[in-house]
Amino acid sequence: MSYLPKTIELELSSYCNVRCLACTRYQFNNNEFVLNPLGVRNKNLDVEFLEERLFSQKWFKDIEAILCVGNNGDALANPDIVKIISDIRTYNPTTNLDLVTNGSIGTPSTFKRLSSLFQTHPGEVTFSIDGLEDTNHIYRHGVSWNKLMRNVKTYIDGGGQARWKWITFKHNEHQVDEARELSKQLGFIDFEIFPNLLPLDEADYVLKHVNRSGDLEEKNITLSNKKPMWVESAINPECEASSRVYISSDKKFYPCCDFYNNTPDNNTEFYNWWEDTDWNDLSKYSIEEALNSYKVKELKKTWENKKVCFLCEQKCRA
Ligand SMILES: C[S@@+](CC[C@H](N)C(=O)[O-])C[C@H]1O[C@@H](n2cnc3c(N)ncnc32)[C@H](O)[C@@H]1O
Ligand code: SF4
Ligand code: SF4
Repeated sequence: MSYLPKTIELELSSYCNVRCLACTRYQFNNNEFVLNPLGVRNKNLDVEFLEERLFSQKWFKDIEAILCVGNNGDALANPDIVKIISDIRTYNPTTNLDLVTNGSIGTPSTFKRLSSLFQTHPGEVTFSIDGLEDTNHIYRHGVSWNKLMRNVKTYIDGGGQARWKWITFKHNEHQVDEARELSKQLGFIDFEIFPNLLPLDEADYVLKHVNRSGDLEEKNITLSNKKPMWVESAINPECEASSRVYISSDKKFYPCCDFYNNTPDNNTEFYNWWEDTDWNDLSKYSIEEALNSYKVKELKKTWENKKVCFLCEQKCRA
């Protein structure tokens, strides 16, 4: 690196009302569904911070894509979501904007206001819906189908462009055609199928047998076969190719969402290296300062020397 950002990933919130099995908010441990003690939870990026660090920057008008996805939460849980999206449109009307949600957080009034911001500008709201009325909640535990459909209809009827993101599991694989048909009837512009990241048999077993209700506890998990932190490998760094920046809900800089490591795999070793000082704290430093920091130079050296962090090897192996 260094580059001026062209693609920004924002974790607008690390709140969520839902309990998806593979989400990094949670862990599956000894047949128990628990809170992941390593993840950041229940924080929102605020308008003042975004205006200071992003919208007011000279390079912001040249940003080509903004993805509001995040690792630990749902963007619709941010109480300022409409103001933030509206500000993005004002400061950069041409950027492609993708806002991803489980669709069950937020009132019809919020979805109505959002619909006006996704009509003529490039981009869409992506609804993560992994099933129909009788199956979506099996993976998306906590999503009310009625609320989800009410929000989808309000948004699409208001003129907003919508994409349906579908993850296939054993319990919904027979419904793909029906769901695609429903997406057309509802007015979605796209229906895209994504692979489930969990092993299918394990997911199926866990979804049937593991209780995900009630108050969840934080529990540490120790892995018996941890991956080595540094791996000899050639990579093609996607962050450099797309001039990418990821901002987490606790206002920290990462080059991409995959480089944010809150699973037990080498978490301590990773953070002892990545955050040996406060250099990536964006409440103190600008994005340009972070991109030009000693640590980002060190990261780049690992790529050049072909001895890279296991996260880069997993995502960007050449
Ligand atoms: C952590 S979520 C945050 C965005 C939003 N809360 C949502 O769920 O769509 C980020 C992405 O992970 C995806 N995801 C969740 N569980 C998955 C799984 N088992 N396999 C593949 N992707 C998954 C979601 O569909 C979403 O696009
Ligand atoms: S809806 Fe998104 S953020 Fe919420 S638990 Fe599921 S994957 Fe995680
Ligand atoms: S995994 Fe590593 S190399 Fe790939 S985009 Fe993320 S930080 Fe860059």
